[in-house]
Amino acid sequence: MTGSDSSSLAGPAPEGGGGGLHGGGAAGSNGVANLSVSDLSGGESRAHLTSRITSADAVPIGDADPGADHGYHGELAAILIGDEALKAKIAVLAKAVAADHDQDTPPLLICVLKGAVMFVTDFARALPIPSELEFMAVTSYGSATTSSGVVRILKDLDRDITGRRVVIVEDIIDSGLTLSWLLRNLATRGPASVDVVALLRKPEAIKVDVDVRYVGFDIPNEFVVGYGLDYGERYRDLPFVGLLGEHMYR
Ligand code: PRP
Repeated sequence: MTGSDSSSLAGPAPEGGGGGLHGGGAAGSNGVANLSVSDLSGGESRAHLTSRITSADAVPIGDADPGADHGYHGELAAILIGDEALKAKIAVLAKAVAADHDQDTPPLLICVLKGAVMFVTDFARALPIPSELEFMAVTSYGSATTSSGVVRILKDLDRDITGRRVVIVEDIIDSGLTLSWLLRNLATRGPASVDVVALLRKPEAIKVDVDVRYVGFDIPNEFVVGYGLDYGERYRDLPFVGLLGEHMYR
């Protein structure tokens, strides 16, 4: 569920991430490089990649309801980002990520389940270089209104990421708490670099500053569903990003 309003996910903010090039770090007592996120980020954000979408860009659902094609007749209020715009943006993001990697050091894509699953499959297929795929599932402690930013791993990576160039693939950055925690967690595992590609970001909902190198769209702080994003596990299967009708959650 990602349709939080700005009052959700209160709680102390963990340390944020930062920019900066890959770097070495002091080895900890357990032999694991004690790198901070700022040491590991691949570099400055690619702000020119990000399109800003406002509420005025939402196309209200008219007589033809595209949600109906998937069994959600009358449940959506508007289309915020159509499937063609998503496809075009993913191609641009994939090109940008590929330009920062090469054939010899293929990125290890880490998909954060479940929301990012649609994005990562399209993104990997749009990448003009080889990539490898891993999945993680995490959940925040507490309810959506009391999240402390402490995250529990439901499914961990299947392999070691030491020395790998990691790209976390996220569907949406809302408060930034999940990503902030994940960056710090992965930093303890000895990767060569960790970058983030996020399809969507809600700038008005951010509670902790996280540097994200590649962001597709900045969107308004509204109740978005579709293209992996759910409300009560529904709507992930929609091929576009839409606004949920208020009557569905009020
Ligand atoms: C969503 C999304 C991100 C996270 C972002 O996952 O996929 O992982 O929330 O929110 P944040 O920036 O406020 O931390 P969610 O917990 O809804 O699980 P899901 O992906 O399984 O739907």
